[in-house]
Amino acid sequence: MAKIEKAAKEEVLAAKNLDELNELKIKFLGRERGALTSVLRNLKNLQPEERKTTGENANRLRELVEELFEKRLKELKKTEFDSVLKKEWLDVTRPGAKKERGGLHPITQIRNEVERIFGSMGFGVVEGPEVETEWYNFDALNIPKNHPSRDLWDTFWLRSSQKSQIPNPKSQRLLLRTHTSPVQIRYMQSHNSPIRIIAPGRVYRYEATDASHDIQFYQVEGLMVDKNISIANFKAVILEFFKKLFSKDVKIRLRPSYFPFVEPGFEVDLSCIVCNAKGCSVCKKTGWLEMMGAGMVHPKVFEAVGYVPGAEQGFAFGIGLDRITMMKYKIPDIRLFHSGDLRFLKQF
Ligand code: DAH
Repeated sequence: MAKIEKAAKEEVLAAKNLDELNELKIKFLGRERGALTSVLRNLKNLQPEERKTTGENANRLRELVEELFEKRLKELKKTEFDSVLKKEWLDVTRPGAKKERGGLHPITQIRNEVERIFGSMGFGVVEGPEVETEWYNFDALNIPKNHPSRDLWDTFWLRSSQKSQIPNPKSQRLLLRTHTSPVQIRYMQSHNSPIRIIAPGRVYRYEATDASHDIQFYQVEGLMVDKNISIANFKAVILEFFKKLFSKDVKIRLRPSYFPFVEPGFEVDLSCIVCNAKGCSVCKKTGWLEMMGAGMVHPKVFEAVGYVPGAEQGFAFGIGLDRITMMKYKIPDIRLFHSGDLRFLKQF
């Protein structure tokens, strides 16, 4: 037993890891061949006197060996923990790496706001294709071929192809839509009145660019059709829209104007939001800002979509989204919108 004690003291305390320690446990205390177990198993062959002392000694030794194992186990676990800690050390006080956050484009923000305001007045949002046929962009809107009014819209024509993806039963010439007004036509063709919609989207014009003109920009078309719609309804809706958009008690005024798809047609001016209509450089000292075109839907347009003549009236309007975004955020040049310049974009 003295031998077992000596060996246990040396070997257990020298175990290098948990595996080794487990093996030693089997060697000394194992049920089958453990050194101490065989001593205890031998007891029954001893004389009663000897059996008692040997038994007591063996039990004491077992307790001692078990204590040795406990001690070594604690030591080994601590070293293991320390080394993991060393390997996986983390400085929780170190400042994090700053992530670049994207944001919505200012025009998208204003578009969302416009949709929200008209939505609160019961207008739904619809969309139409950016590649249009000549009929939807012009003819159906009462802009006849070769009529000088067509020159109001400088058009990007597309080379015709038989394989075009656009359903085009009348084999019309294709173009990039010059305004969002064709969405009125598409919507009325597939819906009866009452109608209350806005149609935001991108439009294209073939023209020279400058601070207030780009070859692509955004419009929001509006359309309300029912049995008893008048200019009074239009004024109420559009005044409410501007008040909400600019969070100001603004005024509007209508000036007669010409658009082939409305009769009467007018231009809508807004009291200058910069100087509160007192006169400044933005409104060129007039107190008014030109905001949009509008009018009462022309009978020829109702005819083109197949509505019963005279059965209903409606108003339509077209606002430039870029223009109101420039107003709201005081942006001096329309070309900034598509410049991809982060110094510009990060301001919104
Ligand atoms: N489509 C016109 C443009 O691009 C804007 C417009 C004017 C739309 C009058 C309308 C309207 O619906 O009634 O210049």
